[in-house]
Amino acid sequence: MEKFHISGGKPLAGTVHIGGAKNAAVAIMPAVLLADEPCTIYNIPYIDDVIILADILEEVGAKVSLNSGGCAVIDGSSVTCNKAPYDMAKRMRASYYLLGVLLGKFSEAEIPLPGGCEIGARPIDQHIKGFEALGAKVDIEHGVVKARADRLVGNEIYLDVVSVGATINIMLAAVRAEGSTTIVNAAKEPHVVDVANFLNTMGARVKGAGTDTIRIKGVDRMNGCEYTIIPDQIEAGTFMIAAAATGGDVVVADVIPKHLESTTAKLLEMGMEVIEGDDYIRVRGIRKPRKVNIKTLPYPGFPTDLQQPISVLCSIAKGTSIITESLFDHRFRHVEELRRMGANIKVEDRVAIVEGVDALTGALVSATDLRAGAALIIAGLTAQGVTEVENIHYIDRGYEKIEKKLSAIGADIRRLKDGENLLKVISSNIAVR
Ligand code: UD1
Repeated sequence: MEKFHISGGKPLAGTVHIGGAKNAAVAIMPAVLLADEPCTIYNIPYIDDVIILADILEEVGAKVSLNSGGCAVIDGSSVTCNKAPYDMAKRMRASYYLLGVLLGKFSEAEIPLPGGCEIGARPIDQHIKGFEALGAKVDIEHGVVKARADRLVGNEIYLDVVSVGATINIMLAAVRAEGSTTIVNAAKEPHVVDVANFLNTMGARVKGAGTDTIRIKGVDRMNGCEYTIIPDQIEAGTFMIAAAATGGDVVVADVIPKHLESTTAKLLEMGMEVIEGDDYIRVRGIRKPRKVNIKTLPYPGFPTDLQQPISVLCSIAKGTSIITESLFDHRFRHVEELRRMGANIKVEDRVAIVEGVDALTGALVSATDLRAGAALIIAGLTAQGVTEVENIHYIDRGYEKIEKKLSAIGADIRRLKDGENLLKVISSNIAVR
């Protein structure tokens, strides 16, 4: 079990380069299987979720060459298996995209119910509703989703909740269905648009992605292609918040500023300086942050994935901030850890009342999920003294070389191997509770 050891209180300064979007990559990689030829994908983040997914794709018969330089060549033409292995699928949420892909490719798929971060109930009823509307019979037996259709036929599908996963999964099946499909109340996240653009580059006919109505005309065949994934707006937002929280001055480079408008707006509201360029955003933490109210919403609203990171900024703000989490039930599990660092936060159901304190103090804390882990790193960077963050395997699922990127802009953060314990050596001035 590795952990991060952070000596806090150092303002971040410099330029950080943002990698490809995790949530686009984990949909685009399986989507390659819809084509009869190989695809070359650039700007793939080299993170654990991508590495696990590459293993899953190989298990179902694809040839995958993935390198740490951000390129993957995937050939799904030899795939004949329509089942994903249980022990792998349960390790990641996005394994559910194989349902849409294999259903589109073979009209039949068997995939174990997905794993992923424990941030509350994460039903897939809307995915199933979509597959059924396309003509599939879907049963869940012993934790395995079994979908089968004689033929997939396009239909109009109204989503009861705006779901990224359901929108993408239905698109993945519908591109190979006969006739036209319309997804109404679709998710509009940038990675939904990226997946649609990728499918179109493979020969699909998807229109309207990025609006709440997506129209798809099914095609018989899809071709290989080269494609570059968009920048990860959540990684970018994490660094923007870290810059603000440490009173730093950071250029977050290789981003699409439009995708970060809600984060930029909140940082400005909190009194930070935010300057947008064509493909970068510079954040300066020029003063103690002001209180703010935040409600997580589907895009273009404030992303739930940045709720935990920005709660750290609120915890050292002047005044009381109110954070409402409207997407997931258990996305405040990091709060208990922040309290160990001196934060004053009360949680009532899906609302956190964050009374700003002067400063956080270093402590031994534990990541409870991916974005909670990112929040605890930011807390450690801003805190007085030493913080150690345990359970960092969650963070490795979604952030590539985070400690290297942070060190390059002035953070004092080290990855400690099993058994290493710098905290004992340098513990005279810290509070471990
Ligand atoms: C994706 C992202 C995750 C992000 C989330 C919201 C991936 C791999 N994960 O998760 O990082 O936090 O979007 O932006 O892309 N819901 C249902 N029924 C369904 C599906 C969803 O009720 O069939 C509900 C969920 O419980 C949640 C809301 O819809 O309250 C949004 O979930 P969804 O957008 O589907 O999230 P994921 O695709 O799981």
